[in-house]
Amino acid sequence: MQFDTLIQGGTVVTAADTYKSDVGIKDGRIAAIAASLPADSARQVLSAAGCYVLPGGIDVHTHLDMPFGGTVSADDFESGTIAAAHGGTTTLIDFAIQGKGQTLRHAFDTWMAKADRKAAIDYAFHCIATDLPDARLEEMDDLVREGVSSFKLFMAYPGVLMLDDASIFKAMSRAAKNGALICMHAENGSAIDVIVQRALAEGKTAPKYHALTRPTTAEAEATSRAIALAEMAGAPVYIVHLSCNEALEKVREARDRGLPAYAETCPQYLYLSIENFDVPGFEGAKYVFTPPLREKWHQEKLWQGLASDHLQVVSTDHCPFCYKEQKELGKGDFTKIPNGGPGIEHRMSLVFSGGVHGKRFSVNRFVELVSTTPAKLFGLYPRKGAIAVGADADIVIFDPEKEETISAASHHMRVDYSMFEGIKVKGVPRQVLSAGRLIVDKGKFTGKAGSGRFLKRNTYSGV
Ligand code: URP
Ligand code: ZN
Ligand code: ZN
Repeated sequence: MQFDTLIQGGTVVTAADTYKSDVGIKDGRIAAIAASLPADSARQVLSAAGCYVLPGGIDVHTHLDMPFGGTVSADDFESGTIAAAHGGTTTLIDFAIQGKGQTLRHAFDTWMAKADRKAAIDYAFHCIATDLPDARLEEMDDLVREGVSSFKLFMAYPGVLMLDDASIFKAMSRAAKNGALICMHAENGSAIDVIVQRALAEGKTAPKYHALTRPTTAEAEATSRAIALAEMAGAPVYIVHLSCNEALEKVREARDRGLPAYAETCPQYLYLSIENFDVPGFEGAKYVFTPPLREKWHQEKLWQGLASDHLQVVSTDHCPFCYKEQKELGKGDFTKIPNGGPGIEHRMSLVFSGGVHGKRFSVNRFVELVSTTPAKLFGLYPRKGAIAVGADADIVIFDPEKEETISAASHHMRVDYSMFEGIKVKGVPRQVLSAGRLIVDKGKFTGKAGSGRFLKRNTYSGV
């Protein structure tokens, strides 16, 4: 067989296996996997000697070009997907937000237009539903048919994004029928709002009060409520951006009872803590996102949760706002700081470094957390998340020994700081392929904005 590209001499790693093999690519897909494929069978040969050959990363939680907190997230679908590619992520699932009074379809069309001719990697959408009267519930079915097979609902941000329990329960009941997966932002927003108002009345306006007014109990209570509502509705539930041990315990208990409850965490909760607010002046605003940073001891609990499958996915919740002019909107009032942090570029390296080099889990579990389980949960497997004949040739040639120091001076996200500034990682992508095309070659972007394709996802079918 004649291949377009041959990846030679690497170690293929999947969620299940690790083995030395060559990989042949034709027409954007993996066409052959064999111990040895002849070099003259391909137009382009990439040596993967000393490297892992991984399925491309899948980041199921990003906010590109998103209006939020009185501004718009700083990466659009061009800069955000290029940054993602540099970090070994070849698929992302972003969020289309329904405005109050608008149809779900309108949200989907709006975000399709944002991504069109900009995305450099393949992409799909969840829909954030903020306004779900009974008459609108059937719109969920239409979106599922269009491949938008998951919905994010908020238990926080009253008056802006939050839905009441009745609406959440109805949406979950609908999801139980139409095969959608409900993704839940689990924080008790009503109680948090009271705590926030008290803090402001006491003159507590600095960035760190964003974290101090959102207790772990508020996250744990909402996580437990989300799971209970899903259980009553007979639907699966996926808790997004889980940040603390108390919430993790709720997910663990549910899974121990055999419920289809899943959760993701994000690198910021694994590497950063409330101590990051101990910086001069207003700089703490760089760490204002929701749920907030927790005490340091939670980090190891989350790592252990990833190792033991109480947590199934690491996503980024990439929601970048520049420090200058965007985060600064909240000077003098932490509630006006746009919530979110930049992370799309470094997920793979941070999880590999801390997880595999940190001896917390195997390289196979790493692949499962950043690629295979996201693909399975969100209806993309086995087209994505696999090194298998017939799968899309989204492949990362990953150097497990190469070290890099994360810095805003060298990253590709369109944001003027890094949450992970100065953190050393070991394990970085050397080359990245999307649908067989080499899009990152030793730190240089070689792809093309607009070449990413919209992915129509299947419905939830368990993992
Ligand atoms: O602070 C955050 N996480 N911003 C993005 C919106 C969300 O809740 O995921
Ligand atoms: Zn959220
Ligand atoms: Zn988010």
